[in-house]
Amino acid sequence: MSGAQLFRKIEEIREMLARVRRMGATVGFVPTMGALHDGHGRLIDLARRETDCVVVSVFVNPIQFDRKDDLENYPRNLDADLKFCTERRADLVFAPSVEEMYPEEPKTFVEVRGVSDGLCGAFRPGHFRGVATVVLKLFHIVEPHRAYFGEKDAQQLAVIRRMVRDLNLTVEIVPVATVRESDGLALSSRNQRLSPEERRIAPVLFQALLVAQKYIAAGETDPAAVKAAAQAVLERQPAMRLEYLEVVDPDEMQPVGKISGPVRVAAAAWLGSTRLIDNLLCEPGAVPEVRMIQ
Ligand code: PAF
Repeated sequence: MSGAQLFRKIEEIREMLARVRRMGATVGFVPTMGALHDGHGRLIDLARRETDCVVVSVFVNPIQFDRKDDLENYPRNLDADLKFCTERRADLVFAPSVEEMYPEEPKTFVEVRGVSDGLCGAFRPGHFRGVATVVLKLFHIVEPHRAYFGEKDAQQLAVIRRMVRDLNLTVEIVPVATVRESDGLALSSRNQRLSPEERRIAPVLFQALLVAQKYIAAGETDPAAVKAAAQAVLERQPAMRLEYLEVVDPDEMQPVGKISGPVRVAAAAWLGSTRLIDNLLCEPGAVPEVRMIQ
């Protein structure tokens, strides 16, 4: 099997992709921060099915971290990521250094107001500004036809979609359903930091979201009642410290006053020093499919 080809320089991958596009091939792009797992695998698989040339970026973007210790401790293993990309049949891996992406202190940022403000945005100042800025830079470098983002980071997905609309970008954003362990825990690079005891407790976040989903499917229209029911589940595990649990509009990511159509129930919680996030799309009268790894 010939491996995924590694590029560390912007100019080199640009040249390669210009050749790819000249041949009439479509480019599918999966932006990541590495520590690749089956959740990323699902994004790569879909890109592989839908486009001719699959590019995966691996870049731990410093400007989206609000805490120095989180940036320093973020898992990094390029060799394993390259192997993973080869196994999932990606064509190109773009793994630039921080100096390559930010040769000088950046003075230009993309800010997507409103969508970025609540949920994670309220607790991680500057996070979505850093995400939107690096994703726009990566889009300019890769110039993909399609880019794939996981629904686990639903607010990130909403921010990117809004940026694409507001700035008339031509890339098509493809959302991909969250991949879960068999006990419901959403796959995340951060899960590898959980101790065995924390890992045992972690699925309670998903269980709380399932209760919220059940209430909404059964016709509960009051977000406060839904939140109280979900929070009661979390309270059974005092080791899990809830940061937020909200019922929001799925596009604007702002809390709704009444549930009268599809909403996203989104939550963030801490287990020890690890921050977990998860969300579920909930609809009155319907229980959407949830995908687990089996
Ligand atoms: O979801 C991620 O891994 C990152 O936020 C992204 C989109 C690669 C930007 O750094």
